[in-house]
Amino acid sequence: MSLVEVQGLTRVYGQGRARVEALRGIDLVIEAGEFMAIIGPSGSGKSTLMHILGCLDRPTAGRYRFEGRDVTSLSGDELARMRNRRLGFVFQTFNLLGRLSALENVVMPLTYAGVSPREARRRARALLEQVGLGDRLTHRPAELSGGEQQRVAIARALANDPGLLLADEPTGNLDTATGEEILRLFEDLNRQGRTLVLVTHNPGVAAVAARTVEIRDGRICRDERSGAR
Ligand SMILES: Nc1ncnc2c1ncn2[C@@H]1O[C@H](COP(=O)(O)OP(=O)(O)OP(=O)(O)O)[C@@H](O)[C@H]1O
Ligand SMILES: [Mg+2]
Repeated sequence: MSLVEVQGLTRVYGQGRARVEALRGIDLVIEAGEFMAIIGPSGSGKSTLMHILGCLDRPTAGRYRFEGRDVTSLSGDELARMRNRRLGFVFQTFNLLGRLSALENVVMPLTYAGVSPREARRRARALLEQVGLGDRLTHRPAELSGGEQQRVAIARALANDPGLLLADEPTGNLDTATGEEILRLFEDLNRQGRTLVLVTHNPGVAAVAARTVEIRDGRICRDERSGAR
């Protein structure tokens, strides 16, 4: 069993003249421990694929098995539970809750998963220390730099120890040096065994991943593993 098994995946948006075939038959297998980049031009379907892999969206047709479970057959509640427990998300715009501190942002998904407040705070603190923010626990997002906000978002994404961490243009809103720091953090996480899928249109960002999948017009046109690792 592979972590991710996708077969003949399609996603159609809209109907009639507004109809867009965003994905047109994606076959993809991802093993636990991989670090994969999805690249491709704007509008090629990268985010659409990421949303389906992350159970934020459902395919129009095709099969998706995650950790051996047929995702397409799950109910809305089961999907939400899977998203919370087994998947982590990192976005270009960080998507932190502005009224909550860094610590409280990381505590949230733990509380939602039923972890006791005391244990949730302990784990959140440890995660923030792991991403280098042990001295920023009580800061709110507006009091943090972009790179620090993205670190909080990464800690939050890791809160429930997900089987897969998905990141959509995680360095898109950061300057080059800060973006590179975030990429180093992803590399560290992967070295510790974390499975990562990173969506980007930046080939320099994709170069840190051991595997690159290129999408064009909703289809995979290239799937390469670099020999460097
Ligand atoms: N909710 C939606 N409703 C209708 N069409 C959509 C929707 N989301 C995406 N699309 C269309 O599907 C196609 C793929 O979009 P997607 O967002 O996956 O591209 P992308 O590769 O992530 O692009 P970018 O690099 O600009 O983020 C595009 O043509 C887009 O216009
Ligand atoms: Mg996108």
